[in-house]
Amino acid sequence: MYDVKKAMTARASRREIVKGGAALGVGALGLGRLDNRIAAAQDGGTLEVFSWWTSPGEAPALQALFDAYLAAHPGVEIINAAVAGGAGVNAIAVLQTRLQGNQPPDSWQTHIGRELIDQYVVPGYCEPITDIYTAEGWADVMPEALVEQATWESEQYSIPVGVHRGNGFWYNRQVMADNGIEVGDTMSIEEFMTAADTLQSAGIPALALAMKDTFPGAQLFENTLLGVAGAETYNALFRGETSWDDQAVRDAADATAAMLDYVNEDFSALSWDQAVALVIEGGAGFNSMGDWAYGEVVARNAQDNIGWVSHPGTAGSFVLVVDSFTLPVGAPNPENARNWLTVLGSKEAQEAFNPLKGSIPPRTDANRELFSPYHQWSMDSFANDALVPSCAHGQASSPAFKQAFYDASTSFVTDKDVDTYIAMLSDAAAMDAEATA
Ligand code: GAL
Repeated sequence: MYDVKKAMTARASRREIVKGGAALGVGALGLGRLDNRIAAAQDGGTLEVFSWWTSPGEAPALQALFDAYLAAHPGVEIINAAVAGGAGVNAIAVLQTRLQGNQPPDSWQTHIGRELIDQYVVPGYCEPITDIYTAEGWADVMPEALVEQATWESEQYSIPVGVHRGNGFWYNRQVMADNGIEVGDTMSIEEFMTAADTLQSAGIPALALAMKDTFPGAQLFENTLLGVAGAETYNALFRGETSWDDQAVRDAADATAAMLDYVNEDFSALSWDQAVALVIEGGAGFNSMGDWAYGEVVARNAQDNIGWVSHPGTAGSFVLVVDSFTLPVGAPNPENARNWLTVLGSKEAQEAFNPLKGSIPPRTDANRELFSPYHQWSMDSFANDALVPSCAHGQASSPAFKQAFYDASTSFVTDKDVDTYIAMLSDAAAMDAEATA
């Protein structure tokens, strides 16, 4: 149950309350009056939401969540504290500084799994929200696999709002048709190479890459690793049960290097959404990207001309990238924050947000008819395919290994030096194993 006394003590010490003219002399007020004040306070004050959703597709999706919240709590002023940079490359660092300085926002975006647990829960930055899970019955309407990754020592710490599929391979239908390339229901790496040669002869980069936010290099490799090594070996690698100098990793690095021969020249200057735009505009053939790319497709009204398959070799697997929101220890507006989380877990908010974001709702009772053919395809994949966590998006590994994975992949994108890549990944895994021993 919600601890009223604890909330009031926290609240009484907040400057915002004093500013609002309601300096609370807790001892001087009767309990009935306290209750009234809580009710009144629920629809006032501010709510600072921290995320990295700023792209043309992400921003309207975030706004849909704000709208859902404001419909229920119209008196609250939302402070949108989004920090630009795909996959949180800048936001995560900014947030870390704030948390270390005891200046949390009221709620922040994070991926369930290792990112939530290792980076925020274990160091003590998050309050459990198990009571909201219980009150809202979320465990009954969300797949166990998701609830589990939001759980640490039997308590839940974040509410998933969208399930992204990380291993998307997006393409421009017109460009394919113009060049006589037929994309079937699945694509192998060999089939991609053949298509890439055709596009290259026509002077079109086959693979749109964008390294301004660095994560796409790591993502291209993890998708190719999954395609080459398969879901079992992929999982074993991130669990520390298979060595990073395994032949399958080497083969995946070779395949990635081969694909990198077909990228756009200006990749280091582009942000991920600009690479999606390049495909939409016909300046490149394919883009390997999680389905937040579909959010860009929706924002640009390009649904008719953009097709998708699983990243080459990965049909039958679903790379999980699950966005969720937390309740911080010491949230400036804990009541508003708790209401925010309650709204995020609702069917209505998830049905409004996910069509714009490209993700599917974590709730299994969402109305499928409200979603695009792409979303329905992803829902079927989620229900039937092997679920594997993304390292490029924090779910699969410690934050330290993820950083090393980014660094190694950023060098690899330009030098394509397989031996150095394998050595860097192996060293990072060894350090990680040592740190957790
Ligand atoms: C992911 C996040 C997505 C999307 C993407 C690009 O990490 O889960 O919601 O925003 O980054 O920024």
